[in-house]
Amino acid sequence: MSNLQQPAWIATRGGPLRGQWHVPGDKSVSHRAVMLGAIAEGTTRIRGFLEGEDTRATARVFEQLGVRIEAPNASERIVHGVGLHGLRAPSGELDCGNAGTGMRLLAGVLAGQAFDSVLIGDASLSRRPMRRVTEPLAAMGARIDTDDGGMPPLRIHGGRRLHGIDYALPVASAQVKSALLLAGLYADGETVVREPHPTRDYSERMLAAFGWPIAFAPGQARLSGGHVLRACDVEVPADFSSAAFFLVAASVVPGSELLLRAVGLNPRRTGLLQALRLMGADITEQNPGSHGGEPVADLLVRHAPLHGVDVPVTLVPDMIDEFPALFVAAACASGRTRVSGAAELRVKESDRIATMATGLRALGADIEERPDGAVIEGGRLHGGDVNSHGDHRIAMSFAIAAQLADGEVRIGDVANVATSFPGFDALATGMGMGLAAA
Ligand code: S3P
Repeated sequence: MSNLQQPAWIATRGGPLRGQWHVPGDKSVSHRAVMLGAIAEGTTRIRGFLEGEDTRATARVFEQLGVRIEAPNASERIVHGVGLHGLRAPSGELDCGNAGTGMRLLAGVLAGQAFDSVLIGDASLSRRPMRRVTEPLAAMGARIDTDDGGMPPLRIHGGRRLHGIDYALPVASAQVKSALLLAGLYADGETVVREPHPTRDYSERMLAAFGWPIAFAPGQARLSGGHVLRACDVEVPADFSSAAFFLVAASVVPGSELLLRAVGLNPRRTGLLQALRLMGADITEQNPGSHGGEPVADLLVRHAPLHGVDVPVTLVPDMIDEFPALFVAAACASGRTRVSGAAELRVKESDRIATMATGLRALGADIEERPDGAVIEGGRLHGGDVNSHGDHRIAMSFAIAAQLADGEVRIGDVANVATSFPGFDALATGMGMGLAAA
């Protein structure tokens, strides 16, 4: 296969990153707001909804399940909830697109329905492991068939009686935790989920905001079936994972001074902030506030020389989506950066250890792949061709790398950037980065 699939970007050194900007809404919160709004009693208004392909796919799925969803303005949705038992059997397959979060959380919701359903996804999602959700859901009484190897499509049999379980997750995963909690809404008895390391707790916070009794603390959540979700307006904070690319870019490009407004700072998301500060980054938080119960602040980032670090393993779950950006920071830093305990990166939208290592090597970086991470020697980058393998975060990370490369970087297969960050290219060039369609 060609590594220059269309569409592609040509990224080049721009100037310093400057100005005050607002990145789009949080993907995790947007998915959950549509889901809970759909099965709540009453009308949920979502402000700051991410107009990404992933979250739109989730909204479309609920429309197929009989939920009326209005879009009065961009980044706004009004979800007319049908109640816990009001979803209707869909007439066809339910397409989650590229979204692992969409598919895994939907599996939890659909396992509790009276009707059968089939969840499908794009080529990348069709290669992602689903046993991590189907096995514990089966232990709750669900019946879900997968393809060979535990991959999608997920064929979910309706009319099953679910019962709560006490489940210790083998891998820290907010998606699996959330799927089990959503199935737990439909289950008899108590569902308890224990995590090896605390992960993002948006489902727990939002369930509580929608009035469902739930007890949770870092690393553990428990709820029982038999209650009602009551519609609740949701204000979605700006996505830290989208801000992350610009935190790295402004840190490494000399002369940069950038303000990113009202960024969501849920402590289970901000591992990169800590890692960058360990590397010497100059990032300050201003105007702290809260959006729908989530901490937010403006982030002021100024260029600062970065040095390599051993990324603390305890930070890994809190920055699981930010490693492509961190790899770029490491390649532009002085000295060696070591990442370990991050084998989960191999089962994201692409194998992110392999795709980043291959791409960074194509730009002259010295990077050694490890099964659960990498060792990266900082140095100079040159131009070259890289393939994002259809992975949004890989494409955006190489656009950042190009800002320090001596020569043009051609990034292939970038269409999926729209899954999480529509308008990335316009925002990036507005800030001062060099980026154009190939
Ligand atoms: C997410 C959880 C994480 C993250 C993903 C979004 C969520 O996945 O990588 O982008 O919204 O729950 P895992 O649960 O697989 O770690």
